[in-house]
Amino acid sequence: MHQLRCEARTIAFVPTMGYLHEGHLSLMRLGREQADILVVSIYVNPAQFAPGEDFEAYPRDMQRDLDLATSVGTDIVFTPDDDMMYAEGFQTYVHPERLGKGLCGISRPIFFRGVATVVTKLFNIVRPDIAIFGEKDYQQLVIIRRLVADFNFGIEIVAGPTVREADGLAMSSRNAYLHDDQRRAALSLSQALQQSQALVNSGERDAGKIIAAATRHITSFDQTTVDYIVIVDPETLEDLTLVDRPARMALAVKVGSTRLIDNMVLGN
Ligand code: PAJ
Repeated sequence: MHQLRCEARTIAFVPTMGYLHEGHLSLMRLGREQADILVVSIYVNPAQFAPGEDFEAYPRDMQRDLDLATSVGTDIVFTPDDDMMYAEGFQTYVHPERLGKGLCGISRPIFFRGVATVVTKLFNIVRPDIAIFGEKDYQQLVIIRRLVADFNFGIEIVAGPTVREADGLAMSSRNAYLHDDQRRAALSLSQALQQSQALVNSGERDAGKIIAAATRHITSFDQTTVDYIVIVDPETLEDLTLVDRPARMALAVKVGSTRLIDNMVLGN
């Protein structure tokens, strides 16, 4: 890759944990359009899973992933292993402060430390000009933008819109865990977000009321447990009480034992 940089070719980078779906591929297509070389990484990063989470169960299919990445024009697929990323003696972590503490950070306190650390390492290895992240993981996107600014990476971060199944469920590698009845309950997340958008568009401004209605909708389905439902400032991720300016609604819900997240913009 040093050679490619010397030839002044631009590099776009899409980090993933594999088990690729159309959401990942949409980011690759964005990268393909915006740079000369497209690099994709596939690495299930142990540092972002807590003990008892699904690191071992996380779905993996390397051959299928390589075929899919190649099919959208990826030039280099980087598939490091744990010995390379976390060699014996590894002890230096990148720890987001406030942005990593709310939302998913409450139930997954080491998650964003793991993400920021592995993304820092991947950025240093790949040294891309641009990197593409999905809005699906909205808090992660905000944290990565902050990381790049705080550590002077000089990488342009591009956000890709959330790709959904035809019925609205946000695509996720973890959807593979859902049984049929759970798949139906999982639809309540995007439905609740859409209903919240409609409430705001019809004039509702009270964040508490919008969140209460979304909670009622989701918990009316079997096997759902709400982790959080928030309406936040799109940059600071701080709670809003009034939706009187652009806002993000974000939620995390367990369906059975599968934890799903989704988010949408509210207002304009
Ligand atoms: P992973 O969950 O594999 O997601 C890789 C990238 O794909 C992330 O930027 C994520 O936001 C994006 N993505 C996932 N589902 C999407 C969808 N339905 N529509 C659009 N984009 C989607 O996020 C991670 O991996 C890891 O935390 C990682 C950044 C690779 C660090 O380990």
